[in-house]
Amino acid sequence: MTGFNEFAIARAIHVLAVLIWIGGVAFVTMVMIPACRAMAEGQAQLELFERLEHRFAAIARWSVLLAGASGLWLTWRLDAWGRFADPAAWWWMHGMVAVWTIFAVMLFILEPFVLQKLFAKLARRDPVGTMARIQRVHVVLLTVSLVVVAGAVAGSHGGWRFG
Ligand code: HEM
Repeated sequence: MTGFNEFAIARAIHVLAVLIWIGGVAFVTMVMIPACRAMAEGQAQLELFERLEHRFAAIARWSVLLAGASGLWLTWRLDAWGRFADPAAWWWMHGMVAVWTIFAVMLFILEPFVLQKLFAKLARRDPVGTMARIQRVHVVLLTVSLVVVAGAVAGSHGGWRFG
């Protein structure tokens, strides 16, 4: 078919999914959690955080699925499997799969089956400390995600060649 570039379209879908997902993580980390923590009462902090994060988790689930499917398709279309054998040159490919896996486990397994119960318990015992821990986890996840985004954009366009 002429005029239909499925490779460019898959790349656009991949980047859109990543934009919604990692952009959401950035907002949660840099705006929402600090705003929750500024509330006076410890339990209310955790309650508000959970209510808001719960809404974003549904959006994040769809974006993670879309990013993973389009990413796999791109790897297949580029026949780029060999990149995984050379992590020094293609670290950002490993980075994408690693970030994807961490979030998939968080959103599809830990959040619904473990964290909801755990938070309910911790909310009674140490809500302020729990909020601090939640913030630290988000800062680490966001930092790693942003490094991988920078690596993937530069890498996809010819950068990051060592030696
Ligand atoms: C299973 C998970 C994933 C796979 C298999 C995958 C695969 C790919 C592939 C094959 C490309 C094209 C590389 C090239 O043109 O040389 C790509 C591009 C990209 N990916 Fe992923 N990806 C995945 C997840 C992610 C995640 C989690 C992120 C964000 C943290 C991400 C961010 C990007 C970005 C920003 C680009 C560059 C787009 C561009 O500038 O053209 N990907 N991905």
